[in-house]
Amino acid sequence: MDGGDTTKIIGISGSPRTNGNSEKLIDMTLDIAENRDFDADRILLSKYSVAPCTACGRCSDAKECAIKDDMTNLYHLLEAADGIIVASPVYFGCVTAQLKALFDRTLMLRRQGFLLSGKVGAAIAVGGSRNGGQEKTVQAIHDWMHIHGMIVVGDNSHFGGIVHAPAESDETGIETVKATIGKMCDVLRMLKR
Ligand SMILES: Cc1cc2nc3c(=O)[nH]c(=O)nc-3n(C[C@H](O)[C@H](O)[C@H](O)COP(=O)(O)O)c2cc1C
Repeated sequence: MDGGDTTKIIGISGSPRTNGNSEKLIDMTLDIAENRDFDADRILLSKYSVAPCTACGRCSDAKECAIKDDMTNLYHLLEAADGIIVASPVYFGCVTAQLKALFDRTLMLRRQGFLLSGKVGAAIAVGGSRNGGQEKTVQAIHDWMHIHGMIVVGDNSHFGGIVHAPAESDETGIETVKATIGKMCDVLRMLKR
């Protein structure tokens, strides 16, 4: 009971697959956050269509995105969050194209005055191989967060959630995921004090 009903954590799954590892891990983290009395909401990229940025410059000139798709609503969800936890499958040693498209489209929030700055961020990566690029994927997610001026946390030991699929069989990986959401909740509580 330490989140307070106005502290909100958004979980983003970057997988195009419904009910895959990333979605299950986001569900798990948000359950933990809700049990600690944080508000929680999900952005599952298996359910949304977010086109890549075209570098048209409209977010510089008119402070709005020229592309009208699901991102229009997702901007509001991201802005309303106090914490953002992102889970991605490892695709060729990095995040999915779907997640990268969302990251690039948030340029507008940066140009509108660093609207994600000061939010707490954390990352989870799940790969089909034990050493398939999870740490590099977590790093790519952290890079997006740093470029927005977010406060990045790890798992209180290393970098975040590092998971070998199938996630439910990777006990050590699940511990890093639990520790990562735990760290996010702890830091949000400290910031709200
Ligand atoms: C296009 C593609 C590229 C992949 N590249 C990697 C990789 O570089 N390293 C790895 O460990 N797993 C790789 N995988 C396996 C996925 O990371 C793995 O199946 C993951 O659990 C999928 O997450 P999801 O269940 O949330 O969709 C790749 C899968 C696909 C479809």
